[in-house]
Amino acid sequence: MALLRFIPVLYVASCTLAVVKENFKSCEQSSFCRRLRGFKPEISHYELDLSDIQLTDNAVETKLTNFEDNSHFKISLSAVHGDIFRIQVDELMGLYPRYRPQYALNGEPQAAKLSVVDKSKDHITLQYSDNKATLHAKPFKVEFFKGDSLVAVLNSRGLFHFEHYRTKPSENENNEVEQQKKEDPGAWEENFKSHHDSKPKGPSGVAVDITFPGAMRAYGLPEHADKLPLRSTNGGEPYRLYNLDVFEYEIDSTMAIYGAVPVIYAHSPKHTVGFFWHNAAETWVDITNSKDGNVMSSLVNLVSGTQEHSVSAHFMSESGVMDMFVLMGPKPRDVVKQYASLTGVAPLPQYFTLAYHQCRWNYNDQDDVTNVVAHFDINNMPVDIMWLDIEYTDGKKYFTWDPVKFSNPEQMVNNLTSTGRKLVVIIDPHIKREAGYFLHEDSLANDYYVKNKDGSVYEGWCWPGSSSYLDFYNPKVVDYYKGLYAFDKFKGTSDDVYIWNDMNEPSVFNGPEITMPKDCIHHGGWEHRDVHNEYALTHTVGTFKGLTERSPTRRPFILTRGHFAGSQRFAAVWTGDNAADWSHLAISYAMCASEALGGISFCGADIGGFFGNPDVELLQRWYQAAVWLPFMRAHAHIDTRRREPYLFSEDVKNRIRIALRLRYAHLPLWYTLFFEHEITGEPVIRPLFYEFPEDSEWYDIEDFKIYNGGSHNIPVSLDKILAFYRGGSIIARKDRPRRASSLMHNDPFTLYVALDNKQTASGTLFVDDHASFEYRSKKYLYLHFKYADNTLTSNLIDKTDYPTKEWVERVVIFKPPPGVKGAKLTSKTLGSVDLETSYTSENKALVIRKPGVNIREPFSIKLY
Ligand code: NOJ
Repeated sequence: MALLRFIPVLYVASCTLAVVKENFKSCEQSSFCRRLRGFKPEISHYELDLSDIQLTDNAVETKLTNFEDNSHFKISLSAVHGDIFRIQVDELMGLYPRYRPQYALNGEPQAAKLSVVDKSKDHITLQYSDNKATLHAKPFKVEFFKGDSLVAVLNSRGLFHFEHYRTKPSENENNEVEQQKKEDPGAWEENFKSHHDSKPKGPSGVAVDITFPGAMRAYGLPEHADKLPLRSTNGGEPYRLYNLDVFEYEIDSTMAIYGAVPVIYAHSPKHTVGFFWHNAAETWVDITNSKDGNVMSSLVNLVSGTQEHSVSAHFMSESGVMDMFVLMGPKPRDVVKQYASLTGVAPLPQYFTLAYHQCRWNYNDQDDVTNVVAHFDINNMPVDIMWLDIEYTDGKKYFTWDPVKFSNPEQMVNNLTSTGRKLVVIIDPHIKREAGYFLHEDSLANDYYVKNKDGSVYEGWCWPGSSSYLDFYNPKVVDYYKGLYAFDKFKGTSDDVYIWNDMNEPSVFNGPEITMPKDCIHHGGWEHRDVHNEYALTHTVGTFKGLTERSPTRRPFILTRGHFAGSQRFAAVWTGDNAADWSHLAISYAMCASEALGGISFCGADIGGFFGNPDVELLQRWYQAAVWLPFMRAHAHIDTRRREPYLFSEDVKNRIRIALRLRYAHLPLWYTLFFEHEITGEPVIRPLFYEFPEDSEWYDIEDFKIYNGGSHNIPVSLDKILAFYRGGSIIARKDRPRRASSLMHNDPFTLYVALDNKQTASGTLFVDDHASFEYRSKKYLYLHFKYADNTLTSNLIDKTDYPTKEWVERVVIFKPPPGVKGAKLTSKTLGSVDLETSYTSENKALVIRKPGVNIREPFSIKLY
């Protein structure tokens, strides 16, 4: 019972937010991190045996030996389709099998052909397209070349280390035990606070360094509440990747939070190279950037034999095989696509998911939900989705409804859908251990729970009190779990109800670092230690299957908090429990941009901040900024004041209304970007270094003023949303205000043409039914707009079709050519038609009225 009291304390909002750092390990407190980080750059103790290699069309395999302790490993280097090298290292005759993540990769990477270009007893060089890799025998290192340029070196600092499994020295072998203890007191068992990790298999860490000669900056390693470029960690804590429920997380920090995506990109104007460390165990990463000019970075230069800039990363994981991918670039766009080719892309979401979501912990009852939507309508503010947090359940038993407050969910859902809205409800992976609760009874009877190391069912504390955790590594659990989403099981739901998977790091209030003990056991005999960062992903795989089977003709929508490499294939993410503070608003951009580079484009942050009460200025600014992140949801802690946007003064409401309408006007753009993401793997939001290596022109979207690249001081009032269209782009918008996106489907488009200094522009637009999988059977329109020689044209990119009522209502051209007298439209069905034009000198914009052409039909509009 004492623990029950502990739960509310854990989640009470406070004014001064501060993470309790003592609840989480520093590297020094983590035995494997302390050990592996303790190695200093030196000549490697590892040696390749190049006298005995196995060569196939796609790979070379040989033996690697640690000549200090005479342990042996097999190592292979292979070529993967799309300019990628893969290096895998595992123990030869290991005492126990080692884990390789099961869900991160989108299928087995497609092998490419490798050829040997050079071989001696010291080295072997393999070529694949214009990429080369040289394996050096002694000291062991691997160099990677793009053309003739050296772009990455694995183990140049000699930090490669593989702790092979050993039998635990018995107590009588006194010397060895003493020796182990001297080496590291936590090697064979480890304590943290009141928690004991029994480590039945002993130390099993793996580590490697990779240096990128010429690189100026590195990006990646989400999820951290930190700036986008990675900082040098010497002298501080490494970036930690260990999915954790960190209460009141701090920003500008390398601490672990909810998600872990172990990929980095090292960037210079000449080359961008990526490195994906395919490992699901707890991982720490040290970054050294020579630009920082400290002792460590000079050492990196010395060891890598270079005086130019370089970035080096040192990856350290607690267990698992070593499985590494080097993404050869050469540009940011290439490395990100290469990463996407391995871990997959987010499938096109339904259109409504890109609209505005209204959430709160909690809406009190079903009338509250209905009222909130009614107030949005009364105030002419659009909203598409209402969300229910944990209080909708009957005593935190998922897949049930509170019998009093939500006694008629069907009616509530019908109320929502009758006005074109949807519902999302929360489903966490912890299961209340209550006799009579069907899910618990089924799970006990069928052995569906994660176990303690002694084989008994693991029991931890979460929202319901005493809970156990579904083990999604057991295929029978996934089969059972997906069935729970069926309409006859989850009563009251319909095709219009979607799912929020929370607390799936997993969060365990009384566990070590608020998570599951590492010596817990999953199906297949894997320790939780091996799979931890992948657990949330397995949860969303189950939910995804459930929604797909429940509603086979609708694209699923799932929001998840815990995530791993590959999560993008199943769910969107948000940045968790942020705070009502300006710094948290600012960091939400860096966090989502980092996720997008890590393959997870569908990302947002709680508008207004989860903890605390934002003042009205912050709240308005948050809405204005959130228009430009892919996932747009307001959410708030249970102890905060109500802050639905219609509750404020007329001028505040007006600003938020304008922001929401701006979001809805740009839904066709978001939707098109997501379609293109599915096809190409390109992120939906992109940092400037990715998209704009050189300066270009931007047009202010409100007054169409032109700004050239570089930095500008622009005065911003509270009414002003700072956003720009890049010169050279054509944006299709839907400007008619509506209550929900579903009511905009047949609305006409306005095409905004922002010319570049060559008087040209182009853009794309994707159109379909917004919800089904029919786009995969060519039922869509994918249009290319082009403006050149004073003529705007629209053509189909793909040979597909989708009959639609959507049409072109207006064209707005910023900075048009001087002396335009009129415009003539030509299309097959409309023939040749003169259009009405007007010019506003204030905005320097030419407006062409009512082209009237259906968006499906190719057309041209010529200015004369
Ligand atoms: C933690 C989530 O991060 C938060 O968004 C949610 O409101 C609470 N859990 C309660 O479910």
